[in-house]
Amino acid sequence: MIDGQTQLFGIIGQPVTHSMSPAMHNAAFAELGINGVYIPMQPDNLEQGFHGLKTLGFIGVSVTVPFKVDIMAYLDHIDPVARKIGAVNTLLFDRSNPDKVLCKGYNTDWLGSNLALADEMTLKGSTILIVGAGGAARAVGFGLIEAGVKVVITNRTESKGQDLANLLGCSFVPTSNLSSLAADALINTTSVGMHPHAGGIPLQADLLDRFPVVMDIVYAPLQTRLLREAASRGCRTIDGLKMLQYQGAAQFTLWTNQPAPNATMRDALLQELQARSS
Ligand code: ATR
Repeated sequence: MIDGQTQLFGIIGQPVTHSMSPAMHNAAFAELGINGVYIPMQPDNLEQGFHGLKTLGFIGVSVTVPFKVDIMAYLDHIDPVARKIGAVNTLLFDRSNPDKVLCKGYNTDWLGSNLALADEMTLKGSTILIVGAGGAARAVGFGLIEAGVKVVITNRTESKGQDLANLLGCSFVPTSNLSSLAADALINTTSVGMHPHAGGIPLQADLLDRFPVVMDIVYAPLQTRLLREAASRGCRTIDGLKMLQYQGAAQFTLWTNQPAPNATMRDALLQELQARSS
């Protein structure tokens, strides 16, 4: 029940109407008996929206597209990995001194992808191919490098892929040369295969048997064509909800100092996804 003690959490983005995070975080609060609520918010103006969150007493806020980079201008402290990635997806308001509320920014996207992969493999010392070179690839790539992975990038637009490889200090392989590559895992960070273009696949299916683990960050549909083709070739697959779930779990722990109820959060995401597709 919402009352005078209810702690405020939420997500800012544009749009946020389709965010699955409210379902995931509110289920976690309910499971642990935390008097908190997590709401979607779409500020017209980021600076004003940020000051609103600060003034209104919010504790923790997720940040999504298009605000992950611009939000950094308003923060008092930025976690070093988030700074390297150049994007913040999590805000934590420190209200220990009511006269000087501080806001710290973190990035949990990379933790989400690392934890999802770590369920299936040992990261340190492995080689992983990232398909894509956008914001998601950047967060995933920095995270893997933090974990001691040898990263290889491939991307439709070679110049963008090469730029990200230079930034990460890793190698780039043109899509046309992928047949000469083998790695311990492959991660699709592009939107290829996402509803309503669910028939898409980000690389030739007959290359997949070179990758024992295949992960997709697309979660709608849950079983993308990439994951279906990979499973049919004997690869172990990791769906896109895992990254969403684990990045949310890391946020939950930052905000509450409690271990996240992972199974509850995943169930909430699955139910939400099912409700949307029916
Ligand atoms: P995000 O921040 O979500 O990662 P983004 O910055 O727009 O989104 O990056 C999208 C990535 O998906 C890019 O690597 C893009 O490839 P290009 O650099 O060639 O644009 C990739 N991508 C999107 N649609 C694609 C498609 N149909 N085929 C191949 N790659 C695609």
